[in-house]
Amino acid sequence: MANIFDSAKENSLLKDERFLYQDFVPEELPFRDTEIGEMVFCLKPASEGKKPTNLFLHGVPGTGKTVSSKYVLNELAEYSDRAKALYINCFEINSKHSILTKITNFVGYPIPERGLSSEEIFDRFVSTIKNKKLMPVFVFDEAEQLLKNEDAKSLLYDLSRLSERHQIFAGLIFISNENTFLASLDDRVRSSLQASTLEFAKYSSLQLKDILKERAKFSFFPNVLDDEVIPLCAAHASKKGDARIAIDVLLKAARLAEKENAKKVAVKHVRSAFMQEKPIKVEITSNLSEPEQVVLDFIKEGEFSVGDIYVGLKDKYAERTLRKAFASLEEKKMIQTITTQSGKGSARTIKRA
Ligand SMILES: Nc1ncnc2c1ncn2[C@@H]1O[C@H](COP(=O)(O)OP(=O)(O)OP(=O)(O)O)[C@@H](O)[C@H]1O
Ligand SMILES: [Mg+2]
Repeated sequence: MANIFDSAKENSLLKDERFLYQDFVPEELPFRDTEIGEMVFCLKPASEGKKPTNLFLHGVPGTGKTVSSKYVLNELAEYSDRAKALYINCFEINSKHSILTKITNFVGYPIPERGLSSEEIFDRFVSTIKNKKLMPVFVFDEAEQLLKNEDAKSLLYDLSRLSERHQIFAGLIFISNENTFLASLDDRVRSSLQASTLEFAKYSSLQLKDILKERAKFSFFPNVLDDEVIPLCAAHASKKGDARIAIDVLLKAARLAEKENAKKVAVKHVRSAFMQEKPIKVEITSNLSEPEQVVLDFIKEGEFSVGDIYVGLKDKYAERTLRKAFASLEEKKMIQTITTQSGKGSARTIKRA
């Protein structure tokens, strides 16, 4: 007998959706050349037996901090046998003991699960690196988690003093959304680290479009995306400048299209994917007409050009209906219209008030 999962998918649009997963590290990272170049510049000495420069990366969510650092670590591992690079997510591990265990195992000294104190593990870590003449590079992602307990802070102190006290060169990269991370460190730690700061800026709508196109090349079969799909996903994520939101909504739309056996991913699937992200707020539904509510749902937290909204909702409402909805939403102070003048004339964008 056929399995119920067999019939659940017939029309395949996604060639390999794993290319759209959050933890996938693509071979190309558009718009991050400068940041990646800076990381390479700071870490290159590690491959030459010299002291690398420590780094602090910050920026709002979805700006490519994690993926860029993983990309650089992969390249470094390929380039150098001496530099040993490890990525650590401090949401997952953040106690001094667990981090020391992880990094000491990583440099090749197997630590038993129980029985050794943090100090003993630290000694083994130092002696292993000296014996093997390694140059460790550690990325501490979500590094603000390390500031939440004194014991993790003392680990930062020990690591910052590696070259001074133990004549070991290590490269340390800290990543956080909060640009206050360095300032929150103990003066002595901050002064020993001498970390360079690198800010990851929000992506613009145009940049998000290119990022999506690049990721879509590998994840979809050819010609299965309607022309408006990528621009719409990009516009949706552009207020926050967050590539994660853009990629995620594209994947959701594709799954919805596959679910209904559509031949292509269309604007309506993207729109349904928006709906999945955030349920309609019931309390405001009552005094709004249906087109008004749909416009509000469509724009969510984003900022859209009037043209994008027309395109996005074209198989639901005529432009005239939408214009009326904009006017009445504006009157109710629920949206804000921004008109910008440029060489080519004026453009109107709309966002929630
Ligand atoms: N330039 C880029 N090209 C292709 N994909 C990108 C690019 N920048 C980010 N991404 C993708 O966007 C998603 C979010 O990126 P990433 O996880 O690196 O963000 P982040 O800055 O670490 O965010 P957070 O602060 O929330 O941790 C990932 O799927 C990543 O692969
Ligand atoms: Mg991250």
